[in-house]
Amino acid sequence: MCTSGRPAPMIAPSILSADFANLASEVAAVGPSDVDPGVEWVHVDVMDNHFVPNLTLGMPIVESLLKATDIPLDCHLMIDDPGRWAPPYAEAGAYNVTFHAEATDDPSSVARDIRAAGGKAGLAVKPGTPLDPYLEILGNFDTFLVMSVEPGFGGQKFMPEVLDKVRTIRKRIDSDELRLLIEIDGGISDSTIEQAAEAGVDCFVAGSAVYGGDDPSARVAELRRKATEVRENR
Ligand code: DX5
Ligand code: ZN
Repeated sequence: MCTSGRPAPMIAPSILSADFANLASEVAAVGPSDVDPGVEWVHVDVMDNHFVPNLTLGMPIVESLLKATDIPLDCHLMIDDPGRWAPPYAEAGAYNVTFHAEATDDPSSVARDIRAAGGKAGLAVKPGTPLDPYLEILGNFDTFLVMSVEPGFGGQKFMPEVLDKVRTIRKRIDSDELRLLIEIDGGISDSTIEQAAEAGVDCFVAGSAVYGGDDPSARVAELRRKATEVRENR
C-alpha cells in the first residue's frame, strides 16, 4: 500500500545479528510466513576493519547469498575506497549498494558507477556527519542512509538526535519531488521505530531486534505494524 506517493514502510533485517554459519536459513526466516508477507530487503553489513573497527564479510559471501535468496540485498559498505570496491557489488547483483560519505571526496561519481553497474546507489552518513554538503546532490542517489549509532557493531543504543537529519531530508524530498528513500540503521526496535517513522523514514534496518529472538518473522511483523500505524495516522 502506498500513502502520499511513498512506498509502505519497508523492513530490512541486518544479518549482522544472524548466525553466520547458517546465513541461507537465517535469510529464509524473514521471507514470507504466516505472520508477515516477507521483508523487502535483507541488509548486509560489509566492514573492512579500516573504515570501522570491525571485520565482517565481503564479496564471496554476498555472491553466495545472491544464489541462496530472491530477496533483494541491501549492501551497506562500511569500507574505505568505495570508488574502487562498491561498483562490483552492483555488478554481482546486489540491489542497493550504499557507501559512506566520509569515505570519498566524490560521492556522486561513486553513485554513477554503481548505477552504471546495474545497482541502486545509496549514500550513508555517520551520526556526527552534517548533511549540508549532500543536500544539493540528493538527486544522484536512490537511498539515503542515516546512521543512528556509530557504525561498526550491532546491538547499540539508538541516537534520537539524528532524527533531525531525517526530517531535513524528508522536507527536501517532498519540496523537490525527489525519488529517494530514507533508510535508518542502528538501534531500531519496538521502542524506537515509531519515532523514526514519525520523522519520515521509509526503510528500517533492524539487526538485534529481528535476529535476537527466536521468531525473526514475528519480530519483523511487529516492527512493520508499528511503522505502518504511524504512517497511517500522520
Ligand atoms: C552497524 C550496522 C547495522 C547493525 C544494526 O554498523 O550498520 O546494520 O547491524 O544492528 P542493530 O539493529 O542491532 O542496531
Ligand atoms: Zn548497516
